[in-house]
Formats: sequence, C-alpha cells, structure tokens
Amino acid sequence: MSTKSDSLRVLVTGGCGFIGVNLARHLLAAGHEPIAFDNCSAGRLNDGDTAGYARVIEADIRDVDALTAALHGVDAVVHLAARTGVVDSVRDPRGDMEVNVIGTLNALLAARDAGVRAFVFASSGAPLGEVEQPGHEAIAPRPQSPYGATKLAGEGLCSAFAGSYGLPTTALRFTNVYGPFSYHKGSVIAQFMKRIMNGAPLVVYGDGEQTRDFLYVDDVCRGILAALERAPMGELYQLGTGVETSINDLVAVLSDVFSDRRVEVAFEPERTGEARRAFSDIRKARRELGYNPRTPLREGLVCTRDWFLESASS
Ligand SMILES: NC(=O)c1ccc[n+]([C@@H]2O[C@H](COP(=O)([O-])OP(=O)(O)OC[C@H]3O[C@@H](n4cnc5c(N)ncnc54)[C@H](O)[C@@H]3O)[C@@H](O)[C@H]2O)c1
Repeated sequence: MSTKSDSLRVLVTGGCGFIGVNLARHLLAAGHEPIAFDNCSAGRLNDGDTAGYARVIEADIRDVDALTAALHGVDAVVHLAARTGVVDSVRDPRGDMEVNVIGTLNALLAARDAGVRAFVFASSGAPLGEVEQPGHEAIAPRPQSPYGATKLAGEGLCSAFAGSYGLPTTALRFTNVYGPFSYHKGSVIAQFMKRIMNGAPLVVYGDGEQTRDFLYVDDVCRGILAALERAPMGELYQLGTGVETSINDLVAVLSDVFSDRRVEVAFEPERTGEARRAFSDIRKARRELGYNPRTPLREGLVCTRDWFLESASS
C-alpha cells in the first residue's frame, strides 16, 4: 500500500492507450501514483513511457501471473485494457470475449486478492444497443455487437464482485471520447482529423443527421478520478455530456476549427446497424459522483487539432 492515505497507487490497465495516457496526467495532478499495464497491441509504449507513469509493465491481461505480480502493493485499479473495435468484434467475437471478458475477470480476481480499495471499469454505450435515447442506467441493455456484449459482461462481473466479495467496483459507460493521443483510434473525430490533415474528404454515411454525444477526454478522466476516489460499491454510471450533436453539426464546427484548410464532405449510403441517435442522460453521475463535463465541443476540438498538428510535425 502507498504510504500517504489520500494518495493512491493506481494500476491502469490499457495505460498506454488513448484514455490511459491522458488519465496518467490527471492521476499525477491529483497526487496519485499511476502504473501502466499494457500489451501495446493498440497503444504505444512510447506514449506510456512519456506519460508520467511510475512504471510501465508491458504485459497482457490474459496473463494471470503478470496481473497478480502487477497488483502487488497497488491500492486501486482503472481497467481500460480492451479490444475496442465494434467491427473487429463482429469479425472475431471469440477474440473479444477472451480479452474483454476473461481479461476483465482476471483483473477483478487479481484486484480482489490484492484487496484494492477501488476498481473502475471502462464500459461504453454499446451494452445498451438500440434503445430510446438518451440512454440511462435503468434501461435494460440489448447489445447489438459482440463488443457491446463483452462490455455488458464486464459490467455484470463488476456488480458480481461487489456483491460476492465486497470489492468496490464502479462501471462507467463512456460515450464518444475524443482528444489528444487518439491518432490510432477509428472513432469519427480521430478519423475526420486525419482526413482533414491529409486533404481527404470526410465520409458521412446517410444524411449526416445521426447524432452522438462527444466527450472531451479531460472530462472523462475527471469522471474516472471521481469514481476512483469515491469508490461507490457496484454502481454503474453513464459518462457523457448529455448533449446531442449531429454529424453535420460536427462537420460545421470542424470546418471552422480548420478554417485554413478546405474541408470537403463525401456522402455515402447509410450503414446498416448504425444508431440514428445516441446520447447519455448523465444525471446520476452528476448527483452521485459530482461529475461535471465542462469542455465545449469547439474548445475540445481546438485542443485535439493542436495535438494532431503537433504530432504530425514531430
Ligand atoms: N475512446 C472511446 O470513445 C471509448 C468509448 C467507450 C468506451 N471506451 C473504453 O475505454 C477503454 C479505453 O479506450 P481507448 O479509447 O483508450 O482505447 P485504446 O485502444 O487506445 O486503449 C486500450 C489499450 O488497451 C491495450 N490492450 C488491448 N488489449 C490488451 C490486452 N490483452 N492486455 C493488455 N493491454 C491490452 C491496448 O494496447 C491499448 O493501449 C476501453 O476499454 C474502451 O472500450 C472508450
């Protein structure tokens, strides 16, 4: 255990990935000691090395012994490691189950045996599937992809470990997160940024009136930190902005943010299975975690643009 009672030694699985690298900065600023655990299948070791982690452990969450060793002396876990692609999960559901379900079980067992004070799990809107919007915690989930099913299983395991072993687990459902260090991501804002920088048209499927809830990474990190420090027992929270933004509106803001570049749009046929609307009711997180997303879309996009431009030139 770390010595200062208010300072936590935190193992961040998936710590070299997009959210993990940003989270390291927030943990350090709050006086905690972050350690990364990542197999670098998607995240970059170099990003982890420069993020301020006390240590970067290059290992796989399917490796029980490596997790057990990594949890030694750790106070809390933020479990971000996962296969995150919906399309990949449709192509290889077993691979997703092995990493996202068995990997999460491994992390929970190691956390239970180490007696950690908090275990925060990164879930997503995917467990909910095609439900009436805004999504909230009381809606019965109906995942439409293997990825969503694995995240639902993770939520279930977190609840079970709170109920069966008294492990303070919290599952957080993130909406569409964007920000610095997302270059490797297939998410819409990362894709659009890369296409603008390469002079390629933005591909919009359907009429562009479909909506999403775009959440700046610093806001999600503050939500994770609140869950970590308050350690509610077996709870589930939606973390988004509560604001619904259409893809057409996103394109308009991006055109403004990249005013010195030509932003073209190529409309393509609507993709089957794509949700028409998706945004989150975040009242429970506001009430119980003090969660308060405060980054306006334009401001978050400017910071993301600056990072993309800087990393392209270095
Ligand atoms: N970014 C989003 O918009 C978003 C939305 C909802 C939920 N989430 C969830 O948040 C978490 C973090 O997402 P992200 O956007 O930072 O993704 P990311 O791919 O950048 O980060 C995931 C990290 O996990 C690592 N990893 C993958 N498989 C592993 C394994 N078997 N063992 C050890 N490490 C492994 C990867 O190398 C990567 O660094 C994920 O669980 C994801 O499902 C993200």
